[in-house]
Parts: sequence; structure tokens; C-alpha cells
Amino acid sequence: MSKPKVFVSRIIADKALERLSAAADIDVWQDELPPTYEVLTEKVSDVEGLLSLLMDKVDAALMDSAIRLKVISNLAVGYDNIDIQEATRRGIPVGNTPEVLTETTADLAFALIMAAARRIVEADKFTRKGLWKTWGPGLMMGQDIHHATLGIVGLGRIGKEVARRAGGFDMKVIYYSRTQAPAETEKELGLKRVATLDKLLAEADFVSINVPLNENTHYLIGKRELEIMKPSAVLVNTSRGPVVDQKALYNALKSGKIFAAGLDVTEVEPIPSDDPLLALDNVIILPHIGSGSIVTREKMALMAADNIIAGLRGEPLPNCVNQEVQKE
Ligand code: NAP
Ligand code: GLV
Repeated sequence: MSKPKVFVSRIIADKALERLSAAADIDVWQDELPPTYEVLTEKVSDVEGLLSLLMDKVDAALMDSAIRLKVISNLAVGYDNIDIQEATRRGIPVGNTPEVLTETTADLAFALIMAAARRIVEADKFTRKGLWKTWGPGLMMGQDIHHATLGIVGLGRIGKEVARRAGGFDMKVIYYSRTQAPAETEKELGLKRVATLDKLLAEADFVSINVPLNENTHYLIGKRELEIMKPSAVLVNTSRGPVVDQKALYNALKSGKIFAAGLDVTEVEPIPSDDPLLALDNVIILPHIGSGSIVTREKMALMAADNIIAGLRGEPLPNCVNQEVQKE
């Protein structure tokens, strides 16, 4: 019997490809750049499984052309690139890769907190340019992290781990999430829930954005919200670019309404080379590397492969975002 076909939209960890090829006939996209939407549409036209990446747009039209599709597996915990409602309507389970990347991403959020507060990237550039003439009492002064207040927006898996790291710096941690965390979690992590996002923004010295991107969180942080923040505050976004209005962020950083920002994600990825944000010293911009440790990326790839294999067999996916499909 011939094996089911799977399109893998980028080269992923060898172990995962080996595991997948034992169960399926795989077509792996070899380029460094993603397939265009048109190419992806053509590639999925005769496959049973799609292993997608977060920049692959998987919408209704693409699913329409994938007439044999039985399973979609995203190599990410976020799945805003996939029209889940349309997948569910078609009975297609969608997998993601939660948990395995939580701590790695929280590490990066904390790295951005520290680097933006203490102007690490700017200071390194300053040194390399030969501008370091002497020790200066006012040289490259930043913000203290220890004993400052950290505000977590979206206390999910990653948000909690960012909060845990803050404990090592004696920070006070407040959070805003629609659901209150269990009392034991609040106690363990030393958390205090605030009633509104505005209250969090007004109180926090550091704001870490950890919500998923959806219609409720698009531009959650805009001009009004940035104006509520302290002039000494640092904003860190490791969620998705469109959660923050980037033009408003530029204006706030340029005019000193906030002190600095650390971004792992931008509204358009990659950020266009003429984006004005790139000219500012008080923002660090990374190329979406939150989960990018060697070990974690392999775990994600294996998890994504397992989701595909289960879907091809008609079994429940180990990590499924539209569970209702599996209950049918
Ligand atoms: P998660 O466990 O689902 O956490 C998200 C949290 O956000 C939930 O606790 C949710 O709680 C809260 N939330 C949702 N809507 C909200 C709103 N409107 N206002 C306030 N809080 C809201 O997800 P996760 O695993 O921590 O991942 C979070 C996101 O990080 C992913 O969706 C992805 O976009 C991003 N991410 C980025 C990277 C990277 O490489 N930079 C890596 C991994 C993940 P309530 O529903 O109770 O509000
Ligand atoms: C990365 O951004 C993810 O959602 O896993």
C-alpha cells in the first residue's frame, strides 16, 4: 500500500524528517525562503498532511485546493496563520507545539527585558565604534531590573515562566489576563492580578506581552496604552507583531514617552529595511528567535511530526488546537 503524502514547508530537524518519512511520502521544501502562497497551494493539492510554519498562510482558499487534506501541523505554538474555523468546518485537526518551547521563549523575553533596560546592544555598538573614551558617570545609564515591577500581559504558559524568572531579580510581578490564575500559582510565583490592562500599564516598569494574536489582541497596545506607561518603562513583545501598533510604538520611543522596547516579533516579518524603528537606539529588534534553541527546535519538530502521523492514522493529535474535530 502506498504511503500518504505530506508536504513539509521547510527543512526541519533530521530526526523529525526521519520519523515522518517512516510514515509518509514526504516532500520537503528545500529553500531558505518560504514557498509563496501560490506554490503552497499547488503543493497541498494532493497531500494528506501539511507541516506548516508560522509564516505559511493556511486559509479557506488553500484548504479548498487541498482536497485530500486530513491534518495540518504547525511548527509553532501560535496558530494565527491558520484559519482554525475553516479547518474545523472541514473536520481537519490542527496541531501545534506547546510546552516544549515555553521556557526557551521565556528565557528570550527575559534577555530582552535585561538588554533593553541596560542598553546592552546600544552599548556594544558604541564600544565597537571606538566611542568608549573613558569611564563616565553618566555613560549609557539604563533602568534597574531588580526590585522593579514586571507586568505580564497574558498569563499563559510563557507568561508564567517569565514571571518565575523575575523572582530571581526580586521583582514585583503583576499580571493582566482574562482568567485569574489559581491561588497556589499566584502564591508560588508571587503574582498579583490587576483588574485592567490600563492599571497594569500604569504600574509596571517592564511590560511583557505574552498573549496570542487574535481579533481581541490585535493592536492591544496602541497610542493610548503607550501613553499610560511610565516614561522609564520598557516594553517587551515576544508574542506576535500585530499585538502592538508599531507606528505608535515608534512615536512613543522617539519622543521618550517610554524608555525602550525589546521586540522578537514585528508587524511585518521580516521588518522592512526602511522601517523607521530600525533607526532608533532604544529598541532591540530580533528576527523572531524566541523558541530558537537547538534542543527546543528539535523537540518542536518531533512534536509536529507526531501530530502529522497521528492525523494520518485518524488518531487524536497529541497537541490539537481544535479539539472539537477529534470528538466527532
Ligand atoms: P498560552 O498558554 O495560550 O497563553 C496565552 C495567555 O494569554 C492565556 O493565558 C490567555 O489567558 C491570555 N490572553 C488571551 N487573550 C487575552 C487578552 N485579550 N487579554 C489578556 N490576556 C489574554 O500561550 P503561550 O504558549 O504562553 O504562547 C503565547 C503566545 O506567544 C503564542 O500564541 C505565540 O503567538 C507567542 N510565541 C512566540 C514565540 C516567539 O518565538 N517569539 C514563541 C512561542 C510563542 P486568558 O484567556 O485567561 O486571558
Ligand atoms: C513561535 O512564534 C511560536 O508561536 O511557536
